[in-house]
Amino acid sequence: MAILPVLRLGDPRLLNIASKVSEFNKPELDEVIEDMFDTMRAEDGVGLAAPQLGIGLRIVIFGFEHNPRYPDSHAIPETVLINPQITALGTEQEQGWEGCLSVPGMRGMVSRYRRIRYTGFDASGSAIDVTAEGFHARVVQHECDHLDGIIYTQRLTDARKFGFTEELLASGQMNTEPCSNQEA
Ligand code: NI
Repeated sequence: MAILPVLRLGDPRLLNIASKVSEFNKPELDEVIEDMFDTMRAEDGVGLAAPQLGIGLRIVIFGFEHNPRYPDSHAIPETVLINPQITALGTEQEQGWEGCLSVPGMRGMVSRYRRIRYTGFDASGSAIDVTAEGFHARVVQHECDHLDGIIYTQRLTDARKFGFTEELLASGQMNTEPCSNQEA
């Protein structure tokens, strides 16, 4: 197990298209996923994509534990999602603040589909098929974007709604509820 450095915005490797995983149930794959979880937890993130560690494979992880400080927030089960496909359910989109471990200390307003279905595989190659909405759907869309070299800063709905978390909180533009307070 290892905590790896997270690439930051400006590193050209974040712009690459990641390759599909072709073999499951491999110790090498398990090791990558373990390093991803170690790093995500160490960085206190809610999601992470393999390209953020300089690993060009279509692997994302995400998970959001219930936080006693925010009893109303919905937990997201810890998930490994490999070779994901996202389908929007309906056309409804919603605005929300996003943060990224590759853009530390900043947040930006991004529009995402409110409801999605995502499919893919876990580390052993078993199929995953989940319907998600709200923050859960947002995190999955954010992570899967990383696999296509897309950072949320490319999706800002208004470049004026992008800045340092501290300033956005201090000015009351963003509140401290857990969803907007997460990096992924
Ligand atoms: Ni990110």
